[in-house]
Formats: sequence, structure tokens, C-alpha cells
Amino acid sequence: MRPGPAGTPVADAVSCTRLAYAFGDTLAVDGLDLAVRQGEVFGLLGPNGAGKTTAIRCITTLLPVPAGTVGVFGHDAAKERMAVRRLLGYVPQQLSADSGLTGRENVALFARVFDVPRRERAERVGQALAAVGLADAADRLAGTYSGGMVRRLELAQALVSAPRLLILDEPTIGLDPIARTGVWDHINAVRAATGMTVLVTTHYMDEADQYCDRVGLMHRGRIRALGTPAELRRDLAERQGTDTLPTLEDVFRDVAGSGLDDHSGGGFRDVRSTRRTARRVG
Ligand SMILES: Nc1ncnc2c1ncn2[C@@H]1O[C@H](COP(=O)(O)OP(=O)(O)O)[C@@H](O)[C@H]1O
Ligand SMILES: [Mg+2]
Repeated sequence: MRPGPAGTPVADAVSCTRLAYAFGDTLAVDGLDLAVRQGEVFGLLGPNGAGKTTAIRCITTLLPVPAGTVGVFGHDAAKERMAVRRLLGYVPQQLSADSGLTGRENVALFARVFDVPRRERAERVGQALAAVGLADAADRLAGTYSGGMVRRLELAQALVSAPRLLILDEPTIGLDPIARTGVWDHINAVRAATGMTVLVTTHYMDEADQYCDRVGLMHRGRIRALGTPAELRRDLAERQGTDTLPTLEDVFRDVAGSGLDDHSGGGFRDVRSTRRTARRVG
């Protein structure tokens, strides 16, 4: 909670305290503290294996919360799972569109699952498709879409329930620069129109720098640095006493130290887990 304009407390859109999650011996999330404020675009950044997806899956209630707490607009993700689910739209790292359905059918499926009232469904599906620039392609099979179109279709699926919080896990991975910009333009347009909060994971530091209000640099299951991209870059410049402003990637290397190279094939440019959207669908 933080004080609102009238002094009344305002719940953060997402609030994690000492969240921990282990797969066997692997501590994927290791005491994560995270607060995403209402209305901001927050970037959870980090190399593959940092624990971003695991943390996101705890926040979306797809994984339990074995240790610590997770709150979404003040609702406890462990105790009020349905309330939390109703507040959020989620674009997972893995492909969530069906190539054998049209774009419109894919979005309609999500509208049904997320309890969009039957009377409003057709209109809301059309609006969601239009919001991501897919109105003209809506009645084509998703299997004919390009990688960028598939990602925008998944965005429409997540938006059709009019979520207050949109969570995107690596929304632009594997896309070309023009398609990446397209995805961000549509996210920002919806956000400007609705005021929804956005929590996004990425390992593209340039994107985070451009589009995120604040970022948390995650490494080995925990946030290691937090702030606006400009703050983090200025801080590092001051510490290093350099004139040229370092990049966000420089900041991450400084924060994570040599440990970044411990991950097998690690680093920001690791494409091991690149979504093979084009191959699987397009
Ligand atoms: N289903 C799983 N079973 C076992 N280990 C997993 C599983 N999912 C993730 N991990 C491990 O947990 C750690 C964090 O993974 P993940 O949350 O996917 O990180 P990120 O999204 O930042 O790449 C990694 O070491 C990964 O290998
Ligand atoms: Mg991930």
C-alpha cells in the first residue's frame, strides 16, 4: 500500500514480498520483493534462468505461492485466486494461440473463458482485434499469420477481458524490429486509452529503456537493482566516473557481475528459448 492523492492507501497493482519458488533443488525465485504501481509499465528484466517466468506464473496464480506473499490490487494470490485472475490479462512466453482457428475464433475463446457477458462478446472481440491492428485479418486462420501478427493476436486474447493489469512474458522475443515496435505501439495505445498497468518481462534492454517507466533487474531469483532506466544509467555513470552514459545492459553487467556468464549459454543474447512462433504457426 502507498498513500493515494487523498491520503487513502492505494494498493499496488502487484506486490510480492519474499516470494520464493523452487523446482527440486533449483531455487528459481529466491526471496523476491517487487512492487508494481498502478498505471505504470514495469519491466522485469534479466537473462534466461533469472526466474522471471516463475515469478510471473506465481503472480498469475498458475503456480502456487509456497513462500512469501503475492498481492494483485490488494488481493492475495494464494487465497483469492479467482479474484486475482479476473483482474489480469496474461500473454505467456509459450504460444497460446491455436493455428487451426481464425483470429476472431481465438479471441472469442478467451472471451468465453474469461466470462465476458454473452451479449457483449462479439463486440468486445471485434474491439480487441481492432486494438491490435488485426481487424482485416480477423477471419483468416491464425496459421497464416506472421510471427508479429500472432503476438498481437495473443495480445488481443489477453485484452478481451478488459484487464486492469496486463502481464506479458517476453512479448517481442524472436520478432524483427518492425514487428517489435508494432507490438509496443499497440500495448501503449491500449494503455493510454484504459490506464491499465503493464508488467512485462524481457531480456531486450533497449526495449526496456524505451518503453518502461521503471525496471527491476532480476538475477538469480531476486531483484538486484530497481529504478527508472535513466536513474540506473546515471547512477552507474556516477559510480564509474565516466562522461558517456552507460546503457541499461552495462548497468545489468555491473549489477550481476561476472555471475552473468555462469549460465550455460547465458547472457542477454541467448536465443535458446526464442519462441519459434514463425515455425510453429506462421
Ligand atoms: N518446470 C521446471 N522444472 C524445473 N526447473 C525449472 C522449470 N521451470 C524453470 N525452471 C528453472 O528455474 C529457473 C528459472 O527459470 P525461469 O523462471 O523460466 O527464468 P526466466 O523466465 O528468467 O528465463 C531456471 O534455472 C530454470 O531452469
Ligand atoms: Mg522466461
